[in-house]
Amino acid sequence: MKVGEEQWQLQECYNCHKLRGEGGKKRGPELDNIGTLLTVDEIQEKISNPKSFMAEGYEKEWQKGTMPNKFKDLMDPKEMQALAAWLGTFKNASVNTPKPIKKN
Ligand code: HEC
Repeated sequence: MKVGEEQWQLQECYNCHKLRGEGGKKRGPELDNIGTLLTVDEIQEKISNPKSFMAEGYEKEWQKGTMPNKFKDLMDPKEMQALAAWLGTFKNASVNTPKPIKKN
């Protein structure tokens, strides 16, 4: 398995996010079109600082800090970069991934 996909599994992003039709039991947006909406650098920024972007329609969750602010401590920079690069390859426009709004 690629490092990026491995981090997706290890960090349990799938608990909150549906991807390829799998996961997302807790409330978080589907990410299949995230590669169209954010650059790899921006995806990395979102993972390392969840307050940096807010998914449109998820104001409440963004404000509550539902997406954990712990991943920068759990992954080394290379792993996080690989995860962001892997997510950046998802450009499935038939999935309604919400628009990320720049916050901080
Ligand atoms: C406990 C639930 C939870 C976990 C675990 C979680 N997230 Fe999130 N995530 C959310 C929620 C809720 C939002 C929407 C609110 C926001 O933007 O903060 C979100 C938003 C996002 C977005 C922006 C989506 C958009 O369309 O704007 C990305 C990218 C993302 N998460 C990636 C990840 C990755 C990668 C991981 C694993 C390292 C992860 N998330 C783990 C809950 C979670």
